[in-house]
Amino acid sequence: MSVTEQAPPGAGGDPESEAGTDAAHARLRDRISADSLTSRRDYLRIVATVSGGLAAGGIGVAAGILHRHGDSEQLPEMRKVADQLLPGESVAFRFPGDDDRAVAVRLSDGTLVGYSAVCTHLACAVLWRADRGPDGELYCPCHEGVFDARTGKVAAGPPPRPLPRIFLTEQLDGSVWAVATARSGEPAEDALCRQFRDARPDMAQRLGCPGAAGAETTSPDRRRT
Ligand code: FES
Repeated sequence: MSVTEQAPPGAGGDPESEAGTDAAHARLRDRISADSLTSRRDYLRIVATVSGGLAAGGIGVAAGILHRHGDSEQLPEMRKVADQLLPGESVAFRFPGDDDRAVAVRLSDGTLVGYSAVCTHLACAVLWRADRGPDGELYCPCHEGVFDARTGKVAAGPPPRPLPRIFLTEQLDGSVWAVATARSGEPAEDALCRQFRDARPDMAQRLGCPGAAGAETTSPDRRRT
């Protein structure tokens, strides 16, 4: 029986009955306070659980728990990004998966760069701003995060890590293709060797990847980022 279904305490002038009534009142008060405490504790637990769940996405991204660009050890399937990309132009695309937002930019000096377009702060979409500085910048409007367009490194705002790099290649016909990814801050050589070693041993060998047939061990100071 719940507190709200308690039978009413006895009524009348009988002292025994009144004593019983007082005792019943006391028990009722105890149960009400116990139930209130329980309810409050349960409520707080529920609130904490729901709030924790809502916060978990952001924390997961910040702590690197959730899927990020470059997490896979597998070499992704090459994907065409654009028929051509001229200096000062950018294009948004998806790579390596259909849900992975990415951006490719041709800097004014002709350098081709590609990055994950998922902000390393709380996963908002990163945009290319050509009007900011000689190289433009990669800008996250959620909390004013800024990434260097040439390196992907954090230039301003709260993002904790650089944007993961996407490796691009340009074909003779001018088309631009995405071929591989790197984890945030991972040296290019490590990222490429990790993905090419099994899938493209010929490429791994040409890169001099450690463990590739005929490759020399690569010393850390030969690594480029
Ligand atoms: S989500 Fe990009 S700066 Fe916060």
